[in-house]
Amino acid sequence: MNILLLNGSPRQGGNTDLLLEQVAQGIHQAGFRAEHIHLAQQTIHPCIGCGQCEKNGQCIFEDDMVALYEKIDRASRIVIGSPIYFYGVTAQTKIFIDRCQALWSRKYLLGAIKPERERRRGYFISVAATDGGKIFEGAKLTVRYGFDAMEFSYNGELLVKGVDAKGDILKRAYSLKQAQQLGVEICQK
Ligand SMILES: Cc1cc2nc3c(=O)[nH]c(=O)nc-3n(C[C@H](O)[C@H](O)[C@H](O)COP(=O)(O)O)c2cc1C
Repeated sequence: MNILLLNGSPRQGGNTDLLLEQVAQGIHQAGFRAEHIHLAQQTIHPCIGCGQCEKNGQCIFEDDMVALYEKIDRASRIVIGSPIYFYGVTAQTKIFIDRCQALWSRKYLLGAIKPERERRRGYFISVAATDGGKIFEGAKLTVRYGFDAMEFSYNGELLVKGVDAKGDILKRAYSLKQAQQLGVEICQK
């Protein structure tokens, strides 16, 4: 099983990173391995809305997204992790999702449907400092429609409120356990 963990937090070793490490442990426990990618370390040009991908499904930018498109194509599970920044995902996560417009064009304009589509499952992990009732709503919608462009279902989520300082999540034993369980679960057929 090909599993991608995409971390959209620019803070290495931060709360999202630590949760994704737990997910990776669960995946390992289930007998699989995941590739953990830090989006902040990738060179990804923001989408400029030029419309070229609407014609041929190809983005004009030849940057690290080229390899990521291939990884997305090969993956059967993707976990996107992003902390909440101003009620949305981080800029790094959003730039990545916006560049999935090329995949959206392939799917909706050019009719390229993957045969094994229903087995491609996506998950979202997020943390936020506050505990507002709608704190994750914007980010969830962005990630859901990002997954749709990638031809992944939005299959599950782990959302943790009230974590702010780097490493705060380590005080949340239950959330860490949930992340590990999520890792095991996503490997199930
Ligand atoms: C630029 C910026 C914007 C943020 N906006 C919000 C916000 O709107 N709501 C919130 O609850 N927390 C917000 N936070 C707090 C982060 O979500 C929180 O610190 C989180 O634990 C960081 O996760 P990380 O360690 O994985 O980077 C913001 C933090 C930064 C740096």
